[in-house]
Amino acid sequence: MSVLTIFIFFIGLTAAFIFSIGLFTSFRFKTDGTLKGRMISIFSSFGLFIPKATNISTLYQLWEHDILSDKNKFINLGYWKNADCMDDAGRDMAHLLGEHAEISSNDKILDVGFGFGDQDLYWMKMFKPKSITGLNIIKSQVEAARERVRKNNLEDKIDLRFGSATDIPFGAKIFDKVLALESAFHFNSRDDFFQQAYRVLKDGGRLSIADIVPISSEAGCRKPGLIVRILEPFRLAAWKIPRCNCYDEDEYCRRLEKVGFTNVQVTSIREDVFLPLRKKC
Ligand SMILES: C[S@@+](CC[C@H](N)C(=O)[O-])C[C@H]1O[C@@H](n2cnc3c(N)ncnc32)[C@H](O)[C@@H]1O
Repeated sequence: MSVLTIFIFFIGLTAAFIFSIGLFTSFRFKTDGTLKGRMISIFSSFGLFIPKATNISTLYQLWEHDILSDKNKFINLGYWKNADCMDDAGRDMAHLLGEHAEISSNDKILDVGFGFGDQDLYWMKMFKPKSITGLNIIKSQVEAARERVRKNNLEDKIDLRFGSATDIPFGAKIFDKVLALESAFHFNSRDDFFQQAYRVLKDGGRLSIADIVPISSEAGCRKPGLIVRILEPFRLAAWKIPRCNCYDEDEYCRRLEKVGFTNVQVTSIREDVFLPLRKKC
């Protein structure tokens, strides 16, 4: 057997192995039943195999197939304390953030990274703020979310626009609350967003974020293994998480304080997010 044959055999075996694991994990997600949906699901099961070169819009086109939920289009990991399915977990995550932000009827809210607008419809129904303005950098999501707002006759209350969290197109001290539901890890950079959020918040305003943050070395958790560490840069690139956003919760607080925020608190909800998600999906 020549070296070339061994090489091709090895590549074939590796590809088959990767494909079977992808196929196996894809059954853990709901797909829209089409071959395309199934293929997308297979590849999206493996963040690693989403090409590094894709931009964030391409990445999120994967989710336009309702892979995760039946009834809504949340694109977050979900809060699983009382939830049994992705629909409820996505909504409960939005509820938790709304509660944490203490959204009240006098509030003018800015929501950055609104996905398909589920959380805005939910917050408006549950907490009845004065208004919600949203920013999102994916045009197809903005269009879909605006259409859903229109169907719910909430255009006078919810204004969803194309725009970036790192370049917020509003003047200073306009909003009572700024919220970011599982979106800030994407922002390039998150520091720029912190500054922008501080600028647009009124005095005494509040920034509330549900975010993904690496566990601190002191947290007593098992360190990731060698393979996970080797693959990490590929994963980050594939999921569009800038390296400059990778710091632990202590550093997170420091950076918020540097911008001017006070009373900064970080609460870990990982026990009710990652662990149940792995068990239930
Ligand atoms: C994981 S999804 C979360 C969506 C939604 N919050 C939810 O829970 O369903 C991240 C969202 O952030 C948006 N996003 C990413 N970078 C952004 C930026 N620089 N400015 C505004 N939105 C951004 C994406 O388009 C996407 O809608």
